[in-house]
Amino acid sequence: MSAATKKYKSPIWAPGIFEGKVVLCTGGAGSICSTQVAALIQLGANASIIGRRKDVTEAKAAELQTLRSGSRVLGISADVRDYTMLVAAVERTVEELGRLDYVICGAAGNFLATVDNLSANAFKAVIDIDVLGSYNTVKASLEELKKTRGKIIFVSATLHYTGTPFQAHVSAAKAAIDALSGVLCVELGPYGITSNCIAPGPIAGTEGLARLSRPEIANEAQRAVPIQRLGHVHEIADATIYLLSPAGDWVSGDVIVVDGGAWHRQGASALPYPESVTRKGVVEGVKGMKGAKDSKL
Ligand code: COA
Repeated sequence: MSAATKKYKSPIWAPGIFEGKVVLCTGGAGSICSTQVAALIQLGANASIIGRRKDVTEAKAAELQTLRSGSRVLGISADVRDYTMLVAAVERTVEELGRLDYVICGAAGNFLATVDNLSANAFKAVIDIDVLGSYNTVKASLEELKKTRGKIIFVSATLHYTGTPFQAHVSAAKAAIDALSGVLCVELGPYGITSNCIAPGPIAGTEGLARLSRPEIANEAQRAVPIQRLGHVHEIADATIYLLSPAGDWVSGDVIVVDGGAWHRQGASALPYPESVTRKGVVEGVKGMKGAKDSKL
């Protein structure tokens, strides 16, 4: 568990706001999802986290359980592509923790590959984990969520807002997840269930960033973000708390982008940044371009 995961509990949130509530989170041993769960546990919730690797998942659950005296955290090993495993996970959660209020669909797969290098099976692997896995999780939880007028959160992305190279599989998967969430918002709203997506930008210290970036371009990556830094896992936890707390009760079918404004610059990375938007940069950045009438600046 990272230091941020261990220590994070924003003073903004009232102690005990999730007392008596239970969250189930797939991909719950990962850096983003474990911090989402950590924050909920510290604010009173009990949890079950689901992961493919038994040892890793059980160890993370044991760590998370130390965050609040008296909390209960189950580590359940399951592959989200297997619906029957999720049905069993939900049954065990309800049997041992008493109920199910919140579902976070965080399990995902990712790697960089051009379409040339992306086999049909590789594309399918990510679609299966992300899309089918999220659907299976919701489907297996549905009857329990109806009982508690629960809430669903999908961990999405911003890749598909523009054509992000090497991410055909993930872009297609996350677009499908956003669409699925919208349908669930409409179909499940009358049961009191909300469905939303959180779309993180580049978050420091995550497996996702390690897989999709290189340490030597970290500085460049930060400068590409309008807020001029990478995100922190706790910033995704804060969005989660907002949505799951009563503050988010009337928010459904939405995608909350938590990325320092990064996606607005996707596809514009050929321009030097931030110089291209500063006064000096206007001269340098647009020199020689037909539309650069402001060259007197
Ligand atoms: N480039 C191209 N193809 C790749 C690849 C890569 N880096 N990694 C895997 N594949 C292909 C495999 O070759 C295989 O295709 P093939 O049968 O045509 O050879 C296909 O993807 C499935 O691979 P496999 O290892 O059997 O799948 P898996 O279900 O065990 O693994 C992955 C799922 C591929 C998504 C794996 O990367 C993974 O589990 N990642 C961990 C989670 C993660 O990515 N987290 C970060 C989230 S941002």
